Amino acid sequence: MPLKDVLLDELRDMYSAENQLVKALPKLAKGAKNPKLKQLFSVHLQETKGQVERLKKVFAELGEKPTGQHCNGMEGVIEEGKDALEKNEENASFDSGLIGAALRTEHYEIAGYEACISMATTLAMPSVAKLLNSSLKEELAAAAKITAAGTPIMRQSAQDPEGLKKPKTGKEKYSAKKSKEDEAKAAPDLQRPTV
Ligand SMILES: [Fe+2]
Repeated sequence: MPLKDVLLDELRDMYSAENQLVKALPKLAKGAKNPKLKQLFSVHLQETKGQVERLKKVFAELGEKPTGQHCNGMEGVIEEGKDALEKNEENASFDSGLIGAALRTEHYEIAGYEACISMATTLAMPSVAKLLNSSLKEELAAAAKITAAGTPIMRQSAQDPEGLKKPKTGKEKYSAKKSKEDEAKAAPDLQRPTV
């Protein structure tokens, strides 16, 4: 498969990822307790819509359709965000969880755009690389702003009193079981942590 086809696959993946985020970001914006964080998610929603349009331009230049591939990675990352939104935490601790989830989505996209830009550059497609680079810059800036906004929120969260230990939900029990399986499958010869 020539590199151009690999690039098209990656770009379709990005298109699906951005569309999934257009749907997910309003939920993060609605869920965030901190007004600054709420605003950052809303602003990034508008940027994300622009990124979808930018990808359409890329596909138009390549004479191809943007659809055809669902991004499983972004679906998983958004699923983690849903877990954060379902947490019954205090204000700043709840927001700290959202920040972790939001940064995962941004960095997933940063990796995707960096790969696509490298491929487009290799294929001598400067206009495609330029369009993708505009989106990459927005993702990097969004991640930096979320990290900066997170500092005071996390300081506050560190002061939160310890809550009562709540019983695990079915989903949490399943997640705990799977995490033990991950550990066992990864390196059976490693010594298990004792805590
Ligand atoms: Fe994006």
